Amino acid sequence: MATMLIDAIGEDNARRALEAVVSDVMVGSASVDLENPPSTGNMARAVPTAEFGVSVVEGWRGHGIGRALIEHCEGWAREHGIERMILTVSTENEGAIRLYHAMGYRDFDLVMLKRLDGA
Ligand SMILES: CC(C)(COP(=O)(O)OP(=O)(O)OC[C@H]1O[C@@H](n2cnc3c(N)ncnc32)[C@H](O)[C@@H]1OP(=O)(O)O)[C@@H](O)C(=O)NCCC(=O)NCCS
Repeated sequence: MATMLIDAIGEDNARRALEAVVSDVMVGSASVDLENPPSTGNMARAVPTAEFGVSVVEGWRGHGIGRALIEHCEGWAREHGIERMILTVSTENEGAIRLYHAMGYRDFDLVMLKRLDGA
């Protein structure tokens, strides 16, 4: 694969958006949001947590682009005092879950859903 660059395409104190570019073509994107921007003076402090999302263009998957984008998200979060990363993923998305597990993520909590329209 030609050289891949990761650029910030938007950033403020609580959020950073990234794109991955190969030969001037955008091949993936990610964003990371700080959920609890660290503040000083809290007695019982919540664990500073960031949430991220990532997507790689079909045809470019399996080349390490997703992993590189996630590592950038983690690095930026760490620089902002974040101690914990979270994300939401469908249990059917086995490929993505395999990548997250390989990067040290573990299953955490359970979201429950009930439809009230009978569907
Ligand atoms: C999940 C996703 C971001 C991973 O990005 P990627 O660049 O393909 O991943 P990497 O190349 O860094 O890592 C490869 C690993 O990703 C996983 N993977 C998921 N989908 C894959 C695909 N279509 N092709 C190859 N690997 C895939 C595998 O676990 C693979 O590891 P393996 O080779 O040991 O099986 C990407 O496949 C994608 O955009 N999928 C569709 C959108 C999506 O599911 N986003 C996440 C929602 S929570």
